[in-house]
Amino acid sequence: MNTQEILDKQKKYLWPSHILYYTEPMPLDHGDGLYVWDVDNNKYLDFFAGILTTSVGHNNPKVTERVREQVGKIVHSSTLYPNENHVNLAEKLAQLTPGDLQTSYFTNSGTEADETAVILAKAYTGAQEIVALRHGYSGRSAIGMSLTGHSTWRIGGTQYPGIKHALNPYCYRCPLKLSPETCGAACAEDIEDIIRTTTSGRIAAFLAEPIQGVGGFITPPKEYFKIAVEIARHYGGLFICDEVQTGFGRTGDKWFGIEHWDVEPDIMTMAKGIANGFPMGNTITTPEIAESLVKQGATISTFGGNPVSTAAALATIETMEEEANPTHVAAVGKRLRDGLDKLGEKYPLIGDVRGMGLMQGIEMVKDRETKEPAPQEVVALFEETRRRGLLIGKGGLFGNVIRIAPPLTATEAHIDEALEILDHAMATVQEGS
Ligand SMILES: Cc1ncc(COP(=O)(O)O)c(C=O)c1O
Repeated sequence: MNTQEILDKQKKYLWPSHILYYTEPMPLDHGDGLYVWDVDNNKYLDFFAGILTTSVGHNNPKVTERVREQVGKIVHSSTLYPNENHVNLAEKLAQLTPGDLQTSYFTNSGTEADETAVILAKAYTGAQEIVALRHGYSGRSAIGMSLTGHSTWRIGGTQYPGIKHALNPYCYRCPLKLSPETCGAACAEDIEDIIRTTTSGRIAAFLAEPIQGVGGFITPPKEYFKIAVEIARHYGGLFICDEVQTGFGRTGDKWFGIEHWDVEPDIMTMAKGIANGFPMGNTITTPEIAESLVKQGATISTFGGNPVSTAAALATIETMEEEANPTHVAAVGKRLRDGLDKLGEKYPLIGDVRGMGLMQGIEMVKDRETKEPAPQEVVALFEETRRRGLLIGKGGLFGNVIRIAPPLTATEAHIDEALEILDHAMATVQEGS
């Protein structure tokens, strides 16, 4: 099928609620490592990795091989029967995750992983209320949308009761109008205020992403999570750390984003990058917390721990360990960040550069003084980068943050290629603004 035929069918048979990137969306046909090709055989360097998901590159031979082998054995058995891949992946994750996180429950998406975490926290604490953060994103189910602090993604005003949103450590647009050098992460104290004024005084959990993904790669200050989690625990809450975007070395140096803040979660959720694109979510916790759910009864996920997805995840993690471990991510991430900082000095449209490792964001503004968001310029940058063969992502409440997150197997040469394209594209957009 050609592009037009695919777009025509998309329009006719798929809900219009689907968002497509670019004014003329391109169907992708195949990929190899960091590159993808559309059906018209145009080649692109992929610096969004299917929303931070193809961790070890497209069509990775080790993942493909392991999946092929598994498909030839058994594709599905349900969790009613134990499976070798399922238990081996759970063991691997117990080794990689920090603290006492030892026992896993696999599902099919980040949404389900977060939802499972909320159910578990309520079972363990006996409390009902949850504190999440403004600008956060937790998925598309009723609980997921209610946890989300971003109006774009709360369609229909769906409300799950008992979820409160505290101020967000968004230093570039500080909700308290303070300076990050001297504020002492004052926004974290809003969690206490929210608990004392809008809940029963006891919460089930505080849920947060180490770096907010959809929110626009918002990166909290160093002190933030220690203060925030201490407050949550003081009021009986567990800390649910959503590593759906930040997990698996994405932030460099550490396997999981929260390790940069030196805080141990009680429950951690993961998805996206875990299986290089095969559907998977996981909720990992301590044996004691997991035990609290079984007292309330059983829970089942037909596809959770699927033998093919778990084979893909095992091969993905193995490949990361061999070719794209957190040390590698930190090194290439630094090169990316240095290059973006240089672009920041060159183009007034760039208001802020932030993030860690291979999760770097550029917030674009019309004016550095007023910080007026520049979403139209982001749209223009998308078209310019596409024309030059580079795929990027976007996010942020105002749609004015460029999200740059290539597969973790990116090399210095890939980073340089992307930076050069971004430089030229930014020059064109700056000139036209
Ligand atoms: C931090 C975070 N949590 C949860 C989700 C939901 O994941 P999924 O789209 O796999 O349901 C996402 C998706 O973008 C996310 O970024």
